[in-house]
This record gives sequence, C-alpha cells and structure tokens, in this order.
Amino acid sequence: MTSPKTALTNSSQWKELENLRAHLENSPMRTLFADDPERAKRYFINGAGLSLDFSRNRLTDDVLKALMALARHCKLEDRRAALLRGEKVNITEDRPALHTALRNPGADTIMVDGQDVVAEVNATLARMDTFVQDVRNQSRTGFTGKAFTDVVSIGIGGSFLGPKLVTEALQPFRAPGLSCHYVANIDGTEICETLERLDPETTLFLVQSKSFGTRETLENSKVARDWFIERIGHEQAVASHFMAVTANKAAAQDFGIDPANVFPMWDWVGGRYSLWSAIGLPVALTIGMENFRALLAGAYAMDTHFRDAPLEKNLPVVMAMLGIWYSNFWGAETHAILPYDHYLRNLPDHLQQLDMESSGKRVNQQGETLDYHSGPVIWGGVGANGQHAYHQLIHQGTRLIPADFVIPLQTHNPVATHHADLFANCLGQSRAMMTGKTLEEARAELAASGMAETDIERLAPHKVIPGNQPSNTLMMNKVTPETVGALIALYEHRTFVQGVIWDIDSFDQWGVELGKKLGENILPRLLQPDTPCEASDSATDNLIAFFRSANRL
Ligand code: F6P
Repeated sequence: MTSPKTALTNSSQWKELENLRAHLENSPMRTLFADDPERAKRYFINGAGLSLDFSRNRLTDDVLKALMALARHCKLEDRRAALLRGEKVNITEDRPALHTALRNPGADTIMVDGQDVVAEVNATLARMDTFVQDVRNQSRTGFTGKAFTDVVSIGIGGSFLGPKLVTEALQPFRAPGLSCHYVANIDGTEICETLERLDPETTLFLVQSKSFGTRETLENSKVARDWFIERIGHEQAVASHFMAVTANKAAAQDFGIDPANVFPMWDWVGGRYSLWSAIGLPVALTIGMENFRALLAGAYAMDTHFRDAPLEKNLPVVMAMLGIWYSNFWGAETHAILPYDHYLRNLPDHLQQLDMESSGKRVNQQGETLDYHSGPVIWGGVGANGQHAYHQLIHQGTRLIPADFVIPLQTHNPVATHHADLFANCLGQSRAMMTGKTLEEARAELAASGMAETDIERLAPHKVIPGNQPSNTLMMNKVTPETVGALIALYEHRTFVQGVIWDIDSFDQWGVELGKKLGENILPRLLQPDTPCEASDSATDNLIAFFRSANRL
C-alpha cells in the first residue's frame, strides 16, 4: 500500500476505528458475551424475510457507531439514492447499474438515454411469460412437433452463475417436464458430456451472452448448433430450437438466431447482476414464471429494506461494514460463505463473481492508487461438508477468516433428525469459532481423560483453539423463491456498500480483458506454428511447443 494517505484513511472516522481496534485487541468475544447477557438480542436484525445474528463479531456499540459514522462520512445514503435513481454510477463505462429496476415492475418511469427502462422491463417480462407458458403447455414445440424436455443454457460468468445457483436452489419448486443443463466452460468435456445425454428433437438451446462476443459461449453454441443440425438434418430447424438473450441483437442474428427468438439485455445491467433479466429464462422455464416473479419480489423486498431501514438495522449495510472492519482494520484477507443447505451449495460460486469482479479494484474513482485494501478473497462451500475439510484452518490456522453461515430454519426434506443435526452443526461451528479452547481448558480436558501429566503438556498446545473468529448467522424460514431473491439482493447491496466506502467503481471489470486478449492471440499459434504472435516470451513459447508436441501438431 502506498503513501501519501488518501482522504479515506486520513478521515477522523477511519482513525477512530483504528483506535477502537487497538482497544478491542484485549477484549475477545468470549469476554464481550460474558459481560453482556443481552448481546445476542441486541445484535440481531431482520429484513425481507431474512434474519441476521451478528453478535459473534469483534464488535461493541462504539465500533458499530463508528462504522456507521464512516458509512455516513462516505455519503452512503446519497450514493445509494444515486444507484436506485439510475445515475451513471459505473463511471468508467458511463452507465447506470439498474438491476434494481428489473425487480420493480411497478416503478415509475426511469429514463436512461431517452429510453424508459421500466417499460422495457415490463415488456420483456410479458414476453418471458408468454414464452415460458408456451413451452410449458407445449403450444411451442420443437421442429418435429415434439414437446421440449430439456433446456441447455450456454453462457459464462454472470450469464451462468446466478441462473445456475437459483435453478439448483429452487429445485423443490421445479415444475415437472423440463430439465435444465448449463454449459459454461470452453473445456470441450462440458458441452460433449451434456449433448451426449440429449435428444435434439426435444432440446431447447438458450445462448446467454450480454455482449454476444464471449468466446467460450460462442464456441460452445457453434458446437451445439452443428450437433443439432447434423442430427436433425434440417438447418431451418435452428429457428425453433435456438433462442438468445443479449444486448447485441445483430450478432445473435449473424449467428443464425431468428430475431423473434432474441430476448433483450441492456447496457444498464451488469453481467453479474443480470439474473433478474431475461438471463433468468432458464430459471423461469424450470420453476415457472410465477415463481420467477416471486424471486424478483423477494429481491425487491430487500431493495426496499436497503433503501428504507436505518443504517444500524440495515442488513446489507451492517454486513458490508463488518466486512470493512475486518478487511481494513484487522487484516482479514478472505471471507468465507458457508451455506448450510444443499440447495444453496452454489452460493459461494455466484458470490465469488459478484464480489470479486466488483471489488477487485486497485484505484479509486479518481484513478488514485488505494492506500487500503479493497475486496477480500471470497470462498466457501456447503456445510457440514466443509467441517471435514477446511474448517480446521479456520479454527487453528494463523489467519483471521470471517465467515457467513447461511441456513434455513426449516427444510424441504425432513428425514430423521437431519435438519436439527445440520442446525446443531452450524451453531457448533460458529460457537467454536467464537469461544475457541484455552490452554487451561485443553489441559483440563486431557486430565479428565486420565492422561499422564507429561503427555498432557506435550499434547495440550495442539488442542488449543484461539477462537475470537468472527461470524454472521444469516437465516431464512425456508429456501423459497422470495428468500433466495432477498438473499442474492442482500449480497449485491453489501458489495455496493463496500464499493462506496472504498470509493471504487464496483460495476466495471477491466482486469479480465488482458488475459482474454492474450488467449485469443495465442490460440492461432497453438494451431499453426508460423502465425505471428504478440504474446511471446520464453515461457509462453516453450509451453506452446510443449502443447504442440503432445498433440503432434
Ligand atoms: O469475464 C468477464 C465478463 O464480462 C463478466 O463480467 C460477464 O458476466 C461474463 O464475462 C460474460 O459476458 P457475456 O454475458 O457478455 O457473454
């Protein structure tokens, strides 16, 4: 990190937090809990069908107050209003980020470059409605008149992760008759393995790409189209089986997709926020349009909560500011997302793109190098599985790892005492992270087992768990379209709030361009040795030769 200090780190609010951190060094959470029996009740908030216990944090009322003072100092309320009003908050691309308009069909007119966004959203939802109904009631069939049984969504990044998460999260709401498959990677295994299982006569392909220029998506779509034409024997059948969702209608048409089969996307929706647009079609086809609208309603409820709740009781704001507290004042480098629910197992993947593409930035909005850390590494996985894998490092490793436990209170699949077991595991982990185990406790435990004194001394240090590891417990009654919508929107706003504090552009992603371009530059040379290649250095050249030799090229 460089000097001179930016306005943020020079602010009195930042310095106050530095002081509070120093004070809290000697007050672990164990002590904070022991000193205040009401702590869990005081640090518990609700909104949009979600409840958050944030008592297991390195937090006091003074810290909470100071975090909110920092948020106000960074003009969070104004920036939030600007986001929701449709101002061009994506400054490097000169665009609004109006994903909230996608889930607010009853909104007043919002004009972007002379276009009424709300009218466009409603018209697209109406088209989706008709399309989903037609496919589901079989009035829209494949070329040979057979009903569709499978949908293949081809897309990557934001055109994949959100829809995949929600399709799997809402399996209990799946209407029978249609199965959904996702193909994202340029690794040919994915498309080959997917196509192998399908009947072209009953398969509908959705090419999902905001830009319609993403190589992985286009190459996979070409393979799908060739496979389809070869098996069905009629090129004109493509019109009945290939749809696109894109902001680049012309490119979709060039690809051979009937313009009537193209659903729109817009510049004012970022890829990682596009689940709520027609990019959500695979979800709508799988769970029905009514449930898709319920998903939007859940997200809208979170938007309303984010807009209206006082900062201190505002779920995205509290979670965001706690993240700032650990990233910028306690040196946390990662943040774990631990869904204790099989249906939510893809949550960490989606949040990885959402947060790391948004907050992986190194300059502020004025282009000055940050003298503080921006986004941490987001990682995680489903509980309780993670307990038998990486939780060891959380409990006894040397790093600070704040975590979000996400768990529904009720299950869709009651069996034996499984759900109570799962909940107990979740609570056990967050309590272990908080309390840890002292050397004295470790010694006493070993002594109680009848161990000899010398063995106790040898073993006890290995049993110590420092504790004081922060976590949030985020709960919903059940995994439903509404609660899943609210959950994803919560994390979107959390990411936005952190971007406001860090003063970064949360809506661009210039960092992904260079590697993409170099890959395109290298490809021809992998296939043809004499092709000039700008991307040349001894390692690249050597590895190209290695690949060519292995493939006898
Ligand atoms: O890899 C960067 C990225 O632009 C993401 O932001 C986006 O979600 C993804 O690629 C896919 O882009 P598209 O929808 O244009 O194919």
